[in-house]
Amino acid sequence: MIIKWRPEYSCYDKTIDEQHKQLIDMINEMYTLSLYDDHIDRYDSIVEVFSRLKDYAVYHFSHEEKMFTEHDYDSFNTKLQILEHKGFVNKIASIDLYEVDENQNETISNVLDFLSKWLEHHILEVDKKFGEFLIAKYEK
Ligand SMILES: [Fe+2]
Repeated sequence: MIIKWRPEYSCYDKTIDEQHKQLIDMINEMYTLSLYDDHIDRYDSIVEVFSRLKDYAVYHFSHEEKMFTEHDYDSFNTKLQILEHKGFVNKIASIDLYEVDENQNETISNVLDFLSKWLEHHILEVDKKFGEFLIAKYEK
């Protein structure tokens, strides 16, 4: 299902919100590719979007991690976030592209299910907490 940006996704930081929107766009792009039922091989496009998403997630996480240091986020939540980021990157790296090629639609729908649930959790539970911390700290 296409993920639509909702106001409740806001983490009260413009840059973080923008980056989450980019991630959502890429997940939606992958979803759109999975919808075709015409037996055309879309392996190359899938791998391309997937690799773009992976690179962008790494960039986004490093941006967030820099912010934790800059704003002196507490070490417990910082560690928790870094662990979650690593977990995500490892999961993405462990996806077997051979499997994607062999069984495109099913594998992609499993991957999408993971990505959309993870992003929802990342935005609504984890990053939002950081946004609330920023508001409390700077009353912005
Ligand atoms: Fe994030």
